[in-house]
This record gives sequence, C-alpha cells and structure tokens, in this order.
Amino acid sequence: MSSFLIRPGLRHFVSATTAVACLLMALTSASIAFASSEPIVLTGADRRTSISLDGEWASIVDPYFSGLFSFHHEEKKNGWFINYKAKAGDPFPTEYDFGTAPKLKVPGDWNTQRESLMYYEGPVWYEKDFTYEPKQNSHIFLHIGAANYHSWFWVNGQKVCEHEGGFTSFNCEITQAVHSGPNFVVAAVDNTRSEDNVPTLQTDWWNYGGLTRDVSLIEVPESFIDQYDVHLSRTEDEVIEGWVHVTGATAGTKVQVQIPDLNANSSAEVGVDGRAALHFNVKGLERWSPENPKLYKVVIRSGRDSVDELIGFRTIEVRGIEILLNGKPIFLRGITAHAEAPYRTGRAFSDKDAEILIGWAKELGCNFMRLAHYPHPETMLRAADRMGVLVWSEIPVYWALQFDNPKVFAKAEQQLTEEINTSRNHAAIALWSMANETPNTAARTEFIGKLASHARELDSTRLITAALLVRAKGSTKIVDDPLGKVLDVLGTNEYIGWYEGRPENADTTQWQIGYEKPLIMSEFGGDAKAGLHGNENQRWTEEYQANIYRHQLPMLRKIAQLRGMSPWLLMDFRSPNRPLAGIQDEFNRKGLISDQGEKKKAFYVLQKEYQERNAGNPN
Ligand code: GCU
Repeated sequence: MSSFLIRPGLRHFVSATTAVACLLMALTSASIAFASSEPIVLTGADRRTSISLDGEWASIVDPYFSGLFSFHHEEKKNGWFINYKAKAGDPFPTEYDFGTAPKLKVPGDWNTQRESLMYYEGPVWYEKDFTYEPKQNSHIFLHIGAANYHSWFWVNGQKVCEHEGGFTSFNCEITQAVHSGPNFVVAAVDNTRSEDNVPTLQTDWWNYGGLTRDVSLIEVPESFIDQYDVHLSRTEDEVIEGWVHVTGATAGTKVQVQIPDLNANSSAEVGVDGRAALHFNVKGLERWSPENPKLYKVVIRSGRDSVDELIGFRTIEVRGIEILLNGKPIFLRGITAHAEAPYRTGRAFSDKDAEILIGWAKELGCNFMRLAHYPHPETMLRAADRMGVLVWSEIPVYWALQFDNPKVFAKAEQQLTEEINTSRNHAAIALWSMANETPNTAARTEFIGKLASHARELDSTRLITAALLVRAKGSTKIVDDPLGKVLDVLGTNEYIGWYEGRPENADTTQWQIGYEKPLIMSEFGGDAKAGLHGNENQRWTEEYQANIYRHQLPMLRKIAQLRGMSPWLLMDFRSPNRPLAGIQDEFNRKGLISDQGEKKKAFYVLQKEYQERNAGNPN
C-alpha cells in the first residue's frame, strides 16, 4: 500500500491506483487551472435580467476540508479533489460524488435546513448543474448575494473566484470557464469563525453558514455599467448629480440617464477613469420620505448596456443637533432588527421576509430601522425604499476585533466598500454605521476613524454613525467616547433595567452628552418570553419587559439632543449565548415580537409612544 502525503501534517493512505488517478486529476485540473479573478461589485445587480441558480444544490459536508487538499504539498487551494464530477464507469471510485449527495436549498443557511447542521461550523460543498449558451462579446458573472463566511467558486473545474465576508454581495467573472451546453458550478463555503475575521470569534447571533442569499448568472456586454450613484444634490435645488462608471469603455463613451416621469434625459461622457459625472436639472420632483416613499424609474444606458433602476430622491444631513430629511428636522422612530427570518427563523433573504419585518415595524409606528449588525439583503433595502422606512446600515465591526491587525482593517474596509458600492442608491439608507460597542482604545479609534474617512470618500451624501458604549458615573450616563469626534450622528446603547439595575433606575438617570451632535439611542430593552406573564418585577415576563419601556421612554424624552431611537429589537433571534432552558432556548428574547409573530406587551408600550411622537407631541 503506497502512501501519498496529500497535505502537510495530515497523512492519508490511498491505494496506488487512486494515487495515480488523483495525480491524473490534479495534473488535469492544474493544467486547466484558471487564474481566478477578484470578485467585483455590480451596483443594482438585482435590477438586471439574470438567470437564477436558486433552488436545490447538491451538498457535501466536509469538516476536514478534504476537498481542498493540495496535491503539490503547498497550501494552494485548487479544489481538484472534490471538483471532479464522477461519471459512470470512472476508473476510480470517488467518495465525493455530487450525483448522489443530499440537497440544500439556495438561498438559505444550512443550519436550519438540516438538524445535523444546526451547530455546524466548517466547510460545506455545493454543486449545481446549469445549461448555458455563451453570447458573443459579452461577460458572464456568477452573482452571489451573500456567502457566510469564506467562499470559493469553480465552474467546470476551473476556479473562478474566492471571497471573504458573510453579508455583502459579489460577482465572479466566469466568461472563460463556461461553455455551450451543460456546465456545473461548485462552491465551498466555510463559516468557521476566526479571531482575525470581521466579525471576530464572539457575536451575539447565530453563525448561520452557507449560500444565504440569491445566486444567479448575470450577462453584460463587453463594456458595461458596473457602478453608479444617482442622487439629489444637497446644495442645489432640483439638481440630480452623481456618476456612472463603465468598465471597458474608452474615454468619451456616452452615458445617458433618463427619468421618464420627470421628462429628464441627460447625457455625459466617461473620462479616462471610466467614470461619467452627472449633473442635471429636473422639474417637479417629488422627494422621497417615509410618508411619501416616491420612487422613480431611472434608466442608465451606455453602449449596449442598460440598467432600469428604481430610485427615491431625498437629502439627509445634520445641522447642529438636528437630523434633516429634505431640509426639515426629523425624529427617527425606530426599531432594530437582525436578518432573522420570521416564523421559519434562520437567515432572512426573501421579499416576503422583508415585507413581514418592515410591516411589523410600520405597525409599531416606525419611520426608521437599524439593520444590525451587518449589511442586510438587497430585498430588505428595496422593501425599505418601497414601504418608507429610513435605514441605519452597519458593517460587522462588532465588539473586540483585532483593531491593531492591518489584515483585519483590510477585511473591514473591503466589506464597507462592497456595502456602499452595492447599495448606495437606496433612498432608505440614511446612515452608514461603522461599528457596534467597540472598546475605547487608541487602536480602535484609529481603525474606525479610517473606516469613517473611507466611507465619506465613497459616499458624501449620507451620515456616518456607530453604536457606542456609554460610561456611567453614579446615576449619570456620560457619552464621551473619542470615536464621537468622527461621527455625524452619535449612537449609544444602554440597558437600564436589564443589565443595569432596575427599570425604575431610569427615572433618576441623567445624561451628559460630550458632543453637540444628534443622538440616537441605538439600543435598550430586555428579554421576555412571549406568553410568560407575572408581575412587573418578575424578569423574563412580558410585564417586566413592558415595565422597562415604561421607565425608559420618559427618561429618553428628557435628553435634549435625542433625535431618534432604535430599541433592541423587533423580533427574537437565535443566539448561542442565550441557553436559559424553557425561556431562551438559544434565542435572544429581547424582541417586541417572538420569532413566531407573537406581539408582547412592550410592543404596545412603544407603539403608543410613537403614536404620540408622530402626533407632534415630542414631550
Ligand atoms: C448588545 C449588542 C447586541 C446584543 C444585545 C443583548 O448591546 O449590541 O448585539 O444582542 O446587547 O445583549 O441582547
């Protein structure tokens, strides 16, 4: 029995025939191995005609990542071992046979699809057959809405890309790898947490792994519109400005932007950088707002490419301690939400998930949602545009990252760039949040300060925020985190009545805000199991949770520069940190609604508050 070291440190004994076969396969795949390209951002990918690859994919759970063994003793990941599709009569047996493998639904986390995968953290392989007829002079991209956390992709045995980050969409060019007729795509997705990931090892949410959002094929012409930003000028009335970037276009190539309902039709030329600047007047534009979420069809064209967008036009800015929407002060009546699917639980991804969650927020009286703690699906942002809620969008710079590690900064910056470049045309998005509850250290403040500068370079039309931790001195809460200096809007989290003392402590709490900036109370609340009742001093009951809100809300009314709140949170969500049997059962129960849609008493306490605030009764 001869043996081949097929991976340093891990010795597998394989029979001579298999070893030769492996060598053949390795050499074959190595000879056709295709230098994969970096994934790209396609703004508004969901607005393009696409060929969906959603549905059932073959799946192979691979805890030792055997499928990625490198035959050549180094750690090159070429996927040859698992990437071969077994065919009848093959000269050698392969255990990695997608043909007989069980299925997983895409989109969807694997945890809630198979009991044995609920706690699984590691690699899973996916495979999907598809037929395709290549078009002349076109590019074809494999679009992935999200893959948590690290993912690799091959088409017909050729590696096409690799991506890290669990909550942003990306597009892998597969033009060189597809051919006419039957094709197949193989993906490896590994949700293993790591100290130097973003987020890091510790989070208060379930580490749902997999191809958690839509997967499709997107065809574009040789020169195509990859990114664009079309928005209302903050400084000039009824002026649309922004830019369109065209990949593969020579300088001077024309770009047209039409807004049929406004009889607007503007053209511009791309420069040597492929970007065409936009600046044109419109007449009679109806501004987007939560009360009037007016969306316009915007047709962006260049050469043979065009994108039909739906865009709302509004301005958002800060003046002193006011947040101004379309030039008028606004109070953000909000709620926080995880991307947890109502009823079925697991990662939310569909239009229906979005409409249920935002429908509940609207029922609460919200005009605002903090989408924590990572970029939510495009379906959620489209629904927010349609249904009229402003959004706080956040990257998972959560708790104690390795803030002194340049590789970690690069990962955070990549996710921020992907988030903004993908979603920058949503009227609903008002705030880009850089972080949640990070420790006040010099390394952290520098790290997030750089992220904030990068966000402003990418998008000067929105507000920069973060959810800060708050100091306490006796019964005074002090907001003086140095990070406040780089924010337009301060977010602060506090849990008086749950992690901090009793609900009535809020009655005597003073607030000292160290910055003349708008403040959003970005988290407060407490756990309650829906249907568990008792007196208001009994923790975990609906009455106790409602009592927290009854004491929190009058305290918040006393904070002069409070311009919004997003209590924690809309709906219960799964978390491994919440084991209390019979109460939490691995769910964080701070939802105003249970994961099964049961409204708790506190829902109605907050709803009444928002009704009063909406009736113009701010105090
Ligand atoms: C923290 C954190 C949340 C967490 C919540 C809680 O402030 O930001 O992610 O779920 O509090 O403890 O329930």
